[in-house]
Amino acid sequence: MTAPLRIAVVADIHHGLPSHTKRGDAGLDLLARFVAFCNAERPDLVLDLGDRISDVDAQTDARLEAEVAEVFRDLDAPIRHVCGNHDRDHLSVEENAAILGAPLASEVVDLGAWDVALWRADAKIHRDRPRPGFDLPEADLLWLSRTIQAATKPTLVVTHVPMSGHAQTGNYYFQRNPHLATYPQSERVRAALSQARVPVVALAGHVHWNTVTTVDGIPHLTQQSLTESFTTAGDPAEAWGMLELSDVVRWQVFGLDPFEATVTPTARRWTPPLAPFFTELAAE
Ligand SMILES: [Fe+2]
Repeated sequence: MTAPLRIAVVADIHHGLPSHTKRGDAGLDLLARFVAFCNAERPDLVLDLGDRISDVDAQTDARLEAEVAEVFRDLDAPIRHVCGNHDRDHLSVEENAAILGAPLASEVVDLGAWDVALWRADAKIHRDRPRPGFDLPEADLLWLSRTIQAATKPTLVVTHVPMSGHAQTGNYYFQRNPHLATYPQSERVRAALSQARVPVVALAGHVHWNTVTTVDGIPHLTQQSLTESFTTAGDPAEAWGMLELSDVVRWQVFGLDPFEATVTPTARRWTPPLAPFFTELAAE
């Protein structure tokens, strides 16, 4: 049996001033520790799941993003970034790409036994609408659908915004704002994932907690933020993860909010859910 592929993961660095329970003041020091961890562990790939900063304004955000990019430059392993909503509040995708020195269009990275589909779907929160929130461009959905239909080997799908639509009960940010925890089009996103004829695992940041939610045979993982403190009594979680991909997927999150899971993705899809039991519930 060949050695598993190893992917080191950091989510929601939020470098900047502390904001709510985000300890952004610790972001750069903790990121430097994550980079040292990666250089010692020598993973095949490093993933940054986005929200590198806590946004202020365009000028400040460009400086904060550049400070994060500077720390990432010490990495020995290859890295891929996605943008989170805070990276997009005042900066465009192109501005983020210029600062990181890396393209930020959706792409598939071939790691041999597995593909990594970096689904860089638009992560901007539209605040100028009666109901502010994400809005998935059709072109992003089509990229995901076509990529998943064409997949010929196990695929890790990576994005900032979770695709599972999992419950947010107990989440500091999202219990009372659940519509901001996923795309309004998330049912279509999951339908696209379900087109896979190969095992699929989904990985996201954004919700600042460690979770596994399996939908239609596809395990969805969300990883705790590097600097979040709502689960750690005010201290930054110091969370980063290591994913080991083979026939099974082993995921370990280190730090003050540790988590470990082993999932076995398959190409087998589930029986579709029943209709509502009582017709008066059908309209709800
Ligand atoms: Fe975040």
